[in-house]
Amino acid sequence: MQKIAIVGAGRVGESTAQFLARRDLAREIALLDVHEGTAAGAALDIQETAPLLGFDTRLTGSHEADVIAGAELVIITAGLPRKPGMSRSDVLDKNVAILDEILDQVRRHAPDSRLLVVSNPVDVLTWRAAQQTGWSRDRIMGQAGVLDTSRMAAFIALETGLSVHDIQALVLGGHGDAMVPLLRYSHVNGIPLDRFLDRETLDSIVERTRHGGAEILALKQTSSAYAAPAAAIAEMVEAIALDRRRVLPTVALLDGEYGQRDVATGVPCILGQGGMERIVELDLQADEQADLERSIAGIRKDLERLQ
Ligand code: 2OP
Repeated sequence: MQKIAIVGAGRVGESTAQFLARRDLAREIALLDVHEGTAAGAALDIQETAPLLGFDTRLTGSHEADVIAGAELVIITAGLPRKPGMSRSDVLDKNVAILDEILDQVRRHAPDSRLLVVSNPVDVLTWRAAQQTGWSRDRIMGQAGVLDTSRMAAFIALETGLSVHDIQALVLGGHGDAMVPLLRYSHVNGIPLDRFLDRETLDSIVERTRHGGAEILALKQTSSAYAAPAAAIAEMVEAIALDRRRVLPTVALLDGEYGQRDVATGVPCILGQGGMERIVELDLQADEQADLERSIAGIRKDLERLQ
């Protein structure tokens, strides 16, 4: 890619820039942040690691929106973070207002871009981005499931003592406590998890995954997670930038898939040069479908607040 823009140079935005630069995924990465100096400082700091880490990506940063001009992909990380005890929905109203402003800037300066929404509540904001821009759904994605799945895989690796290289996990649905970690689609190199772990441990992994973000926020108190979120974003960006056509859980606009429409949530998608190229539908069992519907019902409740 020629240019990737990151809006919001907080911890997630800055870490994302680091991960992306390290992988040399674009000629230029532009950071935009409302606080004067924040984006420029972050960009320069990361640029100065280039000789040590060996990347050629150029980083620019500004509080002026035209820094994102011509970006092919805009990653939106700006927003009010959660405080301990808050749900992702608690920051909804503020973050919708922030998102709407950003979308105005994107339309003006990067009208042909694709969007990757990261700010919370991500399912709601991804839907909002589609509504506000009117862009086709292949251009609008949200990041949640790659992070949640990575958390789940990390917990499986910790519990089994086995290599993460052999562990596959899958999480669908909204990025909230009602997310749907799918044990049936998680395995160790094709071997079902119950060959390694008892029921109680598997259930505890599901619960820990559902509260993965809150666990870190409760520990750190003044910051949400940012290392794993940024690594998850980089995974999605690489799939798009290098046209890998990876199958990654992605917040996508549903249009009849999984029996749902007019909502965005986490489902497996093929990501490549075309952005969100296709949603992969799974044959869910009745209990899994019910869990997904419960998760989506929560998102719809938030969407009603926007009407
Ligand atoms: C998380 O799950 C902040 O939503 C983000 O850590």
